Amino acid sequence: MERDMDTDSGSSSGPRDDTLPLKILFVASECAPFAKVGGLADVVGSLPKILRLHGHDVRVLIPLYSSIDRAKYRIEFVQPACIHMGNREEQWVGLNQGQLDGQVPVWFVDCERFFGRPGIYDQPWGEYTDNAFRYALLSKAALQICKDTGFIPDVMHVHDWPTALVPVFLKTWDRELSPLSGTAGVLTIHNIGYQGVYHPSVFPYIGVGLEHLHPDKFEDHGNLNLLKAGIWFADALTTVSPTYALEILGPIGGRGLAPYVFNRRADLFGILNGADYEHWNPETDMLIPERYSADNLLGKAVCKAALQQRMGLDVRPDWPIFGIVSRFAQQKGMDLIREAIPWALNHMVFQLVVLGQGDSSTEDFFRWLAVRHHGRVGVHIGFSNELSHWVEAGSDFFLMPSIYEPCGLSQMYSLKYGTLPLVRATGGLEDTVENYNESTSDGTGFKFMVPTPQALHDTIGWAVSTWYDRPHHVAQLRRSAMAQDFSWEKSARQYEMVYRHAIGNRRQNP
Ligand code: ADP
Ligand code: GLC
Repeated sequence: MERDMDTDSGSSSGPRDDTLPLKILFVASECAPFAKVGGLADVVGSLPKILRLHGHDVRVLIPLYSSIDRAKYRIEFVQPACIHMGNREEQWVGLNQGQLDGQVPVWFVDCERFFGRPGIYDQPWGEYTDNAFRYALLSKAALQICKDTGFIPDVMHVHDWPTALVPVFLKTWDRELSPLSGTAGVLTIHNIGYQGVYHPSVFPYIGVGLEHLHPDKFEDHGNLNLLKAGIWFADALTTVSPTYALEILGPIGGRGLAPYVFNRRADLFGILNGADYEHWNPETDMLIPERYSADNLLGKAVCKAALQQRMGLDVRPDWPIFGIVSRFAQQKGMDLIREAIPWALNHMVFQLVVLGQGDSSTEDFFRWLAVRHHGRVGVHIGFSNELSHWVEAGSDFFLMPSIYEPCGLSQMYSLKYGTLPLVRATGGLEDTVENYNESTSDGTGFKFMVPTPQALHDTIGWAVSTWYDRPHHVAQLRRSAMAQDFSWEKSARQYEMVYRHAIGNRRQNP
């Protein structure tokens, strides 16, 4: 279950030789750098590279969204494929291929009807109304493409509700004849707050038997719940930190799915995400104005001044900057920020830079804040990978007061960039940030527990007073933060054990 996995014990189960390389297909709705909304893309864009280094034959399959630059990534057409959905619907798609960082083959499913649009999940006024159809098609296409190309994976590793139908199809698709009847399905829950709940009229398009429209599987208060179905059909489940694995078993963290996750607790593993230091390392990062290391922080000062200039802030090396890079969603503690930050700005001396987009009233709040505190608050509403690196490098503190946070990657990047995270103690934030101890100067950041504006305000005050009153502690915290190692190595070994567990414990006729 959420047991801490001991990678050295060799305790994985399954009939296969644990040293044999595996064939693994990642199926996902996002993969950095091609298509990214949040950390899911970072995981799908990095874990496969390590698995490949470990000798496994790994591939990734995602949609060919029209925002993906085919020329830049040298994406080429391979062959057509005909996908058979329920209702006897046939959809022709184009199979295309590219490479992830020149290391892992990536399959792109080209389907103009469903993916030939600018957004990934959303248009400016809300979610695409046919998302259930779009991702049902993608999930079925993953199986068909394996069959057509003869790449028969030992494991299909899928991510969140958009691809949660893959393990369903693996167990229900003409099982007698399917070459994939021996393939195990592993479902990673990156965020149980997004479940893919849709009207039952989608069910015929998905095309599995009516017996699966059952409260333990698809049915959810009269609707269809795609994540719930995936939780039932997957051979193993993972989530992205040990603490979140515990949280989703509880009534608040489980968001209505706790009993169903609990049923699968023998196959549930909490594995911390890793950070891709090939892209997130201040010593080698070519996106930031100057490189730096723990031993030579001059470059960080250059990055800070450049960030202040770029964001229209007064160039004050002596003032601390708090950075935010975030989706503007309730999960990220935006309600706390909207109350605590104006209050703190009124009586503490610090600057704030914000990069993000999402909820429109939060966007408006930050626009207002930048006008109200000209020279102290700089805001960029939008998505910019380059600017996100600048904020990580140029800030002194990184604000992440999440209400819940399955893992969180931004705080891991902050640690590496010597930008002390200020977080709420939840999920992966609890597992990756060690609270500052004023008497010893131990720790890597600042934590608070109760999700209230008061607690956030007071913790900002604690960080600001540490900056001005105990600069030697800030220097020590920074050294400790930069020495943390969240590289993928250990987590990748844990995933390999989960894959073997899933292969050895395949669910028969669920
Ligand atoms: P989540 O996946 O819940 O959004 P994570 O911390 O796991 O949270 O991952 C967020 C990722 O998305 C990080 O790589 C972060 O830099 C990136 N990100 C979020 N918002 C933006 C933005 N507006 N522009 C660029 N990158 C962003
Ligand atoms: C989700 C979670 C985030 C996690 C990311 C990658 O978006 O909100 O906490 O880091 O997935 O697993």
